[in-house]
Amino acid sequence: MKTEQRIIKSYSFSQEEILSQILRLYAPQGIDADITYSIGQFYKSGEVPPPRMKFDIEPQTDDTVAADSRHLPLGDKSLGCIVFDPPFLAATGKSLFTQEGNLTVRRFGCYASEKELFAYYRATMSEVSRILKDDGIAIVKCQDKISSGKQFVSHHYILNMASEVGLYCEDIFILLAKTRILSPKHDHQKHARKYHSYFLVFRKSKKKVEIIRRNTDGIHPRKPVETH
Ligand SMILES: C[S@@+](CC[C@H](N)C(=O)[O-])C[C@H]1O[C@@H](n2cnc3c(N)ncnc32)[C@H](O)[C@@H]1O
Repeated sequence: MKTEQRIIKSYSFSQEEILSQILRLYAPQGIDADITYSIGQFYKSGEVPPPRMKFDIEPQTDDTVAADSRHLPLGDKSLGCIVFDPPFLAATGKSLFTQEGNLTVRRFGCYASEKELFAYYRATMSEVSRILKDDGIAIVKCQDKISSGKQFVSHHYILNMASEVGLYCEDIFILLAKTRILSPKHDHQKHARKYHSYFLVFRKSKKKVEIIRRNTDGIHPRKPVETH
C-alpha cells in the first residue's frame, strides 16, 4: 500500500494532486508564473505552492497583474516554470446572456469563435516559449470538447503547436471528472461526452523536439495494413 501511494500516476480526480506530482517530477523549484491565474483555484487548498507571479487579462485578485498572455511583460528566457490554463469556450450571442453562460464566461473566459480561440492558443504557446529559459517547464491545462456538434481534439492541436515553437512534451496527465459544469444533453448524441481534461507538461528544448521529429518522420508500414 505504501509503495503504491508513492507511485506517480498519469491520472487523478484531483487537479491539486496532478499539479503537485508534476512539480515533484519536473519543477521542484516551484511555479514562477501562472499566466491565466483567474481566482487561483489550483492553489486554494494549499497543496500546490502558489506561483511567484500572477497574470490574467481580467484580474480577479488584487495581486494579479493585468496582462495578455500573448504579450507578457517578461524578458526572453526569464522563467523556469509557467502554468497556462486557457479558456476553452468560444461563443457569441444568446448562450452568453443566460445566467449560467454569464457565470461560466466570467469564471473561465471566452473567445468569439473557435478560430480566435485556437489562434489565441497558438500565440500564447509561442509567447511561453519566448519567456521560458532553456529546459524550462510549461504546464498547460486543456480539454477536448464538442462545440456545435463538432469535435475539437484540442490537446492534439496544442501538442502540435508546442512542437512548432520548440516545446517538447515530457508528460501527459489526465484529470478525471465525475460531473461536468455544462448540462448534459442526451438527444442525438454523436460523440462521447468528455469527462476528462489534460495537464500537458512541456520542456523548452528545440533539440529534443528535433530528435523526436527525426526519429518519427517517414515511418510508414512496409505494405498497406490489410483490414477485414
Ligand atoms: C480557465 S480560466 C483559469 C482558471 C485558473 N487556472 C484557476 O485556477 O482559477 C482562464 C482564464 O484565462 C484568462 N484569459 C483569457 N484570455 C486571456 C488572455 N488573452 N491573456 C491572459 N489571460 C486570459 C481569463 O480571464 C480566465 O481567468
